[in-house]
This record gives sequence, structure tokens and C-alpha cells, in this order.
Amino acid sequence: MTRRHEVLKEMGLTPVWRLRHEKEEAKEVREETGWIELKQIVPACTACGLHKTRTQTVLGAGDEQADWLFIGEAPGAEEDRLGEAFVGQAGKLLDSMLAAIGLSRADNVYICNVLKCRPPGNRNPEPEEVAKCTPHLTKQIALIEPKLIVAMGRFAAQTLLNTDASIASLRGRLHQYAGLPLIVTYHPAYLLRNLPDKSKAWEDLVFARKTMQSL
Ligand code: URA
Repeated sequence: MTRRHEVLKEMGLTPVWRLRHEKEEAKEVREETGWIELKQIVPACTACGLHKTRTQTVLGAGDEQADWLFIGEAPGAEEDRLGEAFVGQAGKLLDSMLAAIGLSRADNVYICNVLKCRPPGNRNPEPEEVAKCTPHLTKQIALIEPKLIVAMGRFAAQTLLNTDASIASLRGRLHQYAGLPLIVTYHPAYLLRNLPDKSKAWEDLVFARKTMQSL
């Protein structure tokens, strides 16, 4: 027992008070981690600098056993404020895109992001932030076991497919992530700024719907 432990014990403060590194060790995703634990691990995460600027973490929203999994980039200002994925302007467009193929976030759909914390000023995620947060996303995918993943935008597509290829070159094909079919499309926030590409996103969604029907 270290001197610090002894002092805490004498003061009657252990095991309620534990040393900081012990708590952090206990908060990593492991093989046996389930939803309940993941929902404790993510809000307590301090693995990258984003924990210093976040209001709260945003794990994801929807049906935890959904067939459809939509993955974006990172929470924005509204998501950081409310603690829910895709609730701002991009989220409204995503809801319309889902409705266009007969889906709703309330039914058989789960929506999440590569990062669980908002990058300040909505800057692009840093490679280190993506690397530190990936175990959370990997665990979510393993727990959901979706039939089909739709990666929205460059960060989701490149992270999941481990590539630096462009969205334009990845669209229109069926990819695989850990044995699960994966389709790439534009990020709704990009579509808000590039309206002509909405028709391409529509093609991607029709492709995704056809793919799901064939699974
Ligand atoms: N953009 C994202 O990638 N995710 C959100 O949750 C909101 C905006």
C-alpha cells in the first residue's frame, strides 16, 4: 500500500476516493463492455483534449438494435448543448433524408458520430482525437450489430474504411467494415452548403435502401 493510500485509509476515504489513474484505467472499453458501461465510460472520457472544451459528450441516438446505422463526424454546437446527435440544421436535413427512404430516427435507425465530443468552433477532428475516440465507435458498432452502415462524410468514411480516398471515389460502391456492408455518402452539413450534390446523396440513399432490401 502506498503512503497516499495509507493516508486516505486512515482518513476513512478509501475505497470511495481512489487515485485518478486508477479511475481512468477502469474507464476503458474492454471486450466485455456493454451498453450500460459504455454510457458511463464515454461521459467520463478524458483521453483527448476535447474533454476540456465540451459541454457534454454525445454518444448517439436511436434504436440500439437498429438495422440501419448512420455515422457522421462530430457533435456541433447544438449537439454539444443538448447531448444528442444531429439535432441542429444538419440533423434536420438528415431527418428529411431518412424520411425520403421511409426511415425515422425513432425506428430501426441509430445515429452517431466518429467523435463523441465537439471540436471547438466545429473545426475538423485531429487524427489523435479520432484515434482516441475510435474504440467507443467500434464498441457501439459491435453492440448494435447493424445490417448496414451509412458513413456520412469524409471523416466517417475514411476512419471506418482506413483510407484517405475522397468521398467522390468511395460513393456508389458497397464497402465492408468488419464484415458489415457499408455505403458512403455526403455529410448533411456539406449538402447544406452544396445543394447540387443533394441529388447524388439521394442516389446513395436509394442504393442503400436497395442494398438493405437484398440483405
Ligand atoms: N454534424 C455531425 O457530424 N454530427 C452531428 O451530430 C451534428 C453535425
